[in-house]
Amino acid sequence: MKVGIVGAGMVGSSAGYALALMGIASDLVLVDKNAALALAQAEDISHAVPFVSATTVIAGDYAALAGARVVIIAAGVSQKPGESRLELLERNAAVFRDVVAAVLRVAPEAILLIASNPVDIMTQIATRLSGLPPQRVIGSGTILDTARFRSLVGRHLGISPQSVHAYVLGEHGDSEVLAWSSARAGSIALGSFADQVVKPLTDEVRLSIDDGVRNAAYKIINGKGSTYYGIGAGLARIVKAIAQDQCDVLSVSIVTAKVADIEDVALSIPRVIGAGGVIADLFPDLDDGEYQSLNRSASILKERAESVRL
Ligand code: 2OP
Repeated sequence: MKVGIVGAGMVGSSAGYALALMGIASDLVLVDKNAALALAQAEDISHAVPFVSATTVIAGDYAALAGARVVIIAAGVSQKPGESRLELLERNAAVFRDVVAAVLRVAPEAILLIASNPVDIMTQIATRLSGLPPQRVIGSGTILDTARFRSLVGRHLGISPQSVHAYVLGEHGDSEVLAWSSARAGSIALGSFADQVVKPLTDEVRLSIDDGVRNAAYKIINGKGSTYYGIGAGLARIVKAIAQDQCDVLSVSIVTAKVADIEDVALSIPRVIGAGGVIADLFPDLDDGEYQSLNRSASILKERAESVRL
């Protein structure tokens, strides 16, 4: 299976590195307007391959994406310290006008996997520009926030994050919603599990986990300029679900007919992902506060998406 990556900066190359380590793709093609950068990243990643897999990693122009089953789009600018994801919108929308058309000219059958921020709105833009069904234009959405949530809850409870089943919904950004009320550890409601292991989820603990998830990127960007390993692995995880037709439940963003009271909006809820892209949307049970927060997140995204002229 061939996977393309457009944008060979830190996010795109980290996704490529994760894919190479996981051995998911037979061929990996990196494309960047800076051809020298794409070539250098492809060479560097290819030197990891002999240790772990047999993936062929090359750099190329758009023509080299022909036959790709999935194309990750990580092109555009990323946040500077203090900048929100939504502030990137106009700059990245302009980049997408060219990139989406160029990808589809050579790889019309590909599933598009959108990573550029603000990812929900970029997913809505890519869906509009491509004319593809929403199931084939998938934004990484809150896959990373969900990982951060599971990780912090697991750390608090002293269990593996993989035993925590909890999702972040809505915007990949400031208005995201941690769905506490439906969260489970093993098959046990989170609050009950926490009490049983004598690590209660007090308001203070919940607030600190909420802050840790919501502000993770800001803190990392302050410390090292950008985030890329987490999202790189998250993108590779989505590609794996597609490549192996795994029907995994992952929180990703696609244009959705209705979420809470808002129609035609791209945001994350848990969705089933297999070979054809998104197979089913899952609407988790929410308490009233979570429902209102999801509604607010959806309306922020809807308003911003409508403000973009294509
Ligand atoms: C992240 O959450 C910045 O969206 C990027 O790490």
